Formats: sequence, structure tokens, C-alpha cells
Amino acid sequence: MQKQTDYADAVKTKYPEQIVIAVAKDKTGRANPITLGWTMLASGTPPMMAISVAKTHYSIQTIRFSECFTISFPSADMAAQALLFGSKSGSDTGKFAESECKTEPAKQIDSLLLSDAVANFECTLVSETDAGDHIIFLGKIIAAHKNTEPKKRLYTIGPNHQLGKTT
Ligand SMILES: Cc1cc2nc3c(=O)[nH]c(=O)nc-3n(C[C@H](O)[C@H](O)[C@H](O)COP(=O)(O)O)c2cc1C
Repeated sequence: MQKQTDYADAVKTKYPEQIVIAVAKDKTGRANPITLGWTMLASGTPPMMAISVAKTHYSIQTIRFSECFTISFPSADMAAQALLFGSKSGSDTGKFAESECKTEPAKQIDSLLLSDAVANFECTLVSETDAGDHIIFLGKIIAAHKNTEPKKRLYTIGPNHQLGKTT
């Protein structure tokens, strides 16, 4: 049985929510990471992923400028980095310089991979779609990488950015 309620109430049932970290370089060449919960696999053939970024975020400019970005699946031990990348703006902060996050160059695009992530995907920008207060960027995956060690993914497990792993 279902009871009608408003969107804000019903959407609170969404947890756990996967987290990704997207990285794109700005026009000065600085790589800017952003933490995102609103993301999806969008196509299998060819492989594509989509991310939804608020119009006010600096990442809008970096992705439009680079026309490419990486998507990482952070591991459960990357919660502090995900919170830093998800609370500071690249418009005034070099987020990688402030963090302990280990990176390595992407192989096919001008961006960075997160060395301790569960997996990383290199994407070229295919399109963007206006989605209210967000822009949905669709990326075609042209290279993929996975960690050589078994690692658990990081999720948002409750409101107010409570991060953790699922069982
Ligand atoms: C767990 C978590 C999930 C988030 N999910 C999103 C999201 O899906 N879309 C979005 O635009 N911002 C999301 N944010 C907020 C951005 O990561 C945050 O505002 C960031 O500082 C923007 O960085 P930028 O200005 O360098 O682009 C999330 C933050 C956290 C901590």
C-alpha cells in the first residue's frame, strides 16, 4: 500500500546512494575534483555515463572547457577526500593540493585518475542537457581502470552527507 506524500519526504528513502568523484581541468590547467551522488550508467554500447552538476558549481566551467572528465568510484576509505571535494569550490581552492588524494595522469584524456579509487573511467563529453537547477553531462567512456586491490565503494548512507560503506 502507498500513501501520497511530497517529493522531499519520499526522496529521503533513497539511501544508500552511490558516490562518484568527477575530475576536469580548468582553463589554467588545474584539475578540479567534485563529489557527486547524482550519476548513472547511461549506455552499454557504446559505454556512457551521466553526471548531474548544479549550475552554480565551478565544475560546470571546467567540464565545458575541457570537453572531457574522469569519473572515479571512491573507495570506502576515501570519505574525508569526498567530503573535501564535495564542500569546497574549485573557483577559490586547489582541492587536490589541500588533500592527501593520490592521483595519476589519465591515459586517453587530459585529466587525472584517483589512484586509491575502486575504478576510474575516462570520458569525452558527448552532450549536456538542462535539468532545472542542474546540467546533466553525458560522457562516452574511452578508457577504464580498476584497482589491483579488492576495495569497497563509498556511499552516502543517510542525510547530511553521512558517508560509509554498505554491507
Ligand atoms: C556526498 C555528496 C554528494 C554530492 N552530490 C552532488 C551532486 O550530485 N551534484 C552536485 O552538483 N553537487 C553535489 N554535491 C556538492 C558538490 O560536490 C559541492 O558543492 C562542491 O563543492 C562543488 O565543487 P565545485 O564548485 O568545485 O564544482 C555533493 C556533495 C557531497 C558531499
